[in-house]
Amino acid sequence: MPDLFSPFILKDVTLRNRIAMSPMTQHRAVDGCVGDFHLMMVGSRAAGGFGLVFPEQVAITPDGRTSVHCAGLWNDGQIEGFARLTRLAKDMGAVPGIQLGHTGRKGSECAPWLGRRQLPPDDPEGWQVRGPSALPYGGVRPYPVQPLSHEEITDLQRAYADAARRALDAGFEWLDLHFAHGYLGASFFSPIANVRTDRYGGSLENRLRFHLEVIDAVRAVWPERLPLTMRLGADDLNPDGVTLEDSIVAVRRMKAHGLDLADLSIGFNTDEMSPKPFAELAFMVERAARVRREVGIPVATSWNLGQPQVADRVIRDEAIDLVMLGKPALSNPHWPLWAARELAHADPFVLLPEDWAWWLRNSRGHPDCEGWPTPSRRAPG
Ligand SMILES: Cc1cc2nc3c(=O)[nH]c(=O)nc-3n(C[C@H](O)[C@H](O)[C@H](O)COP(=O)(O)O)c2cc1C
Repeated sequence: MPDLFSPFILKDVTLRNRIAMSPMTQHRAVDGCVGDFHLMMVGSRAAGGFGLVFPEQVAITPDGRTSVHCAGLWNDGQIEGFARLTRLAKDMGAVPGIQLGHTGRKGSECAPWLGRRQLPPDDPEGWQVRGPSALPYGGVRPYPVQPLSHEEITDLQRAYADAARRALDAGFEWLDLHFAHGYLGASFFSPIANVRTDRYGGSLENRLRFHLEVIDAVRAVWPERLPLTMRLGADDLNPDGVTLEDSIVAVRRMKAHGLDLADLSIGFNTDEMSPKPFAELAFMVERAARVRREVGIPVATSWNLGQPQVADRVIRDEAIDLVMLGKPALSNPHWPLWAARELAHADPFVLLPEDWAWWLRNSRGHPDCEGWPTPSRRAPG
């Protein structure tokens, strides 16, 4: 039976454990290029023991970013920043993963801490957003959406493949496609955002065409020996939207096109969701486990898996194969080390670079002065 610290093998890649830092948009890139901040973010989590580390969603075109300060891989000049990051992650024992995506009708925004809103196309930092249909998201994202022509769809699929080739050049060993969270892939899949009447809209088969064509285009340049995964908006939590049953069909079709693992998340194609499960522990796990069982494909999921006992249990139960951590990875770069201590791992320091582990093993001081209280000596109460 695997546990949270069992290696995970997918294609020719071995993760040292089942813990991944989930992709997280940072609004810190310059002209799409990642820099020291991203190096710090990914490098520190790799040194903290994560098996798989993603920077943020990386845009395939300039208008595929969330804000003008998001990262991209639409030109060769953007490769070197990512190459620094993959070299450091590998040196720290982690596998560097990249998530490629396009924000579709949810682009042209500013960083959330500057006000949660979309910027109009004529704003110096805004642009005309595109999507499957001329349906604005609404609320804080009110601006018109330009529906994509067939030619533009083909161009975007080429941009996915070009970005995948650059990701390979940059040294990434795991490629994830972002088809969730209301971005372009999610909106093609959802009847809430896609009301096209051509071959990319209507039936489930048609709403899935964009994704299968993207997978085919990427798989043609991304080597068979390396994992190709995708994060799916597997449930819109809305009666008019994507259901888990739709997603099971979708993942089965994607598997036939070369998908190696499915990461199940929420559609976020609308703010009208009911019930909203966002405060519940591990709320996506049951859905992900169903996909795993019914499709026969490895699965991952995120959402409230930051308690070590919960993360370990969902792996031991063989409900999911990989735990994706978002906010816990933001707040604690050493989450895997902490979890190993909490779960009474025989040698937690094995997760750290030997440069630190040697000292921590061999130069013991007061047990309460190693960076956290020992599990048996926690403060009362
Ligand atoms: C700051 C921030 C940025 C995020 N950006 C992305 C992103 O670029 N791509 C993505 O798929 N999910 C993104 N997410 C979602 C996380 O990857 C994760 O799925 C979500 O936070 C739930 O996991 P958690 O409960 O461990 O935080 C982001 C989350 C946060 C907090």
